[in-house]
Amino acid sequence: MKRLFSGMQPTGALHLGNYVGALKNWIALAESGTYDCIFCIVDYHAITIPYDTEMMEKRVFEAALDYLSAGLDPEKCSIFVQSQVIEHLELSWIFASLTPLGQLMRMTQFKQKTLQWSEKDQDEDEPNWGEEIGGDRDSFLSRAGGINSGLFTYPVLQAADILAYKGEVVPVGEDQVQHVELTRDIARRFNNRYGNVFPSVESLLSHTPRMMGLDADQKMSKSIGNHLELSEGPESILHKVTRESVSDARRQRRKDPGVPEECNLYAWHKIFSTEEDVAWAAEGCRTADIGCFECKKRVAERINAILDPIREKRQELAAHPDTIYDILNQGAMRCRGIARETLDETRAAMGLKKLAPFK
Ligand code: TRP
Repeated sequence: MKRLFSGMQPTGALHLGNYVGALKNWIALAESGTYDCIFCIVDYHAITIPYDTEMMEKRVFEAALDYLSAGLDPEKCSIFVQSQVIEHLELSWIFASLTPLGQLMRMTQFKQKTLQWSEKDQDEDEPNWGEEIGGDRDSFLSRAGGINSGLFTYPVLQAADILAYKGEVVPVGEDQVQHVELTRDIARRFNNRYGNVFPSVESLLSHTPRMMGLDADQKMSKSIGNHLELSEGPESILHKVTRESVSDARRQRRKDPGVPEECNLYAWHKIFSTEEDVAWAAEGCRTADIGCFECKKRVAERINAILDPIREKRQELAAHPDTIYDILNQGAMRCRGIARETLDETRAAMGLKKLAPFK
């Protein structure tokens, strides 16, 4: 069975965008029994931006709680916390020594995080020093100079996450495909230099379109604050969706018709509603038969219907935090075993085998 690996940062309580974009897919993959699935809460990735130390444990716990409440079954996959398996860091150093600076400089996410370059340059292959904002190589280097190097080598750690388990399949969103390609390059480079240890890696894109936030303008995101949490109460969901969400601007008045294909609420209907409701919303919007409020209310009800069982399970689980920690510890134990084996093999291939590593 091929091994599947994916990870998410512990951002605290997950939002609906995380659920439809990633978690729902993880659950289906674990249920399908097609792969040996490993899911990781990547806390070592999360420390590349400043954070409140008091909150980290809670963020990790909440992430695990959300996974399990949403239906990720620990009997059918391994769930663990990255920092519990130290081998990721060991492998990451080895991989850093095989990764050209230039390739890391081309990582879109790094460029975005550091320089916030405009969208149009994201796909370019050559290093781009930000010409459109008056940048050149020197100014790139001086601006990037203040960035911590963890943010820079972030994708190398991600490669180590995957390859410590010889993962072959990586379900991710569009924005992570480049990192998976880097992982494949690193594996190939390692194999060429030291002998065949690592498999070829592929990303597995989910078909769900990315979910926009309440503002209808940007991808749903906790940092923007345009999100709905998985654990949010039904009234709050109803309130935010009916009062705070942005619908088609053409519908200024009740009798102004709209264009559903250009309305974010319609996009939400397509994600959460039944076929009949989707048709109802499209037709009602185009003909101005229904108002935006009605349409929003219906989608809020659909979201709540999906969240009801998740909220219920969450309450149950939250009452027994030890169960959650047990699941994470067991996951880590299994993963540590696999990762140690990979590292032993890796060290041996590199001629580092004479001195036994600590076990
Ligand atoms: N970088 C990923 C993200 O930001 C999270 C991640 C870390 C990951 N390690 C991974 C995803 C390994 C897939 C495989 O979403």
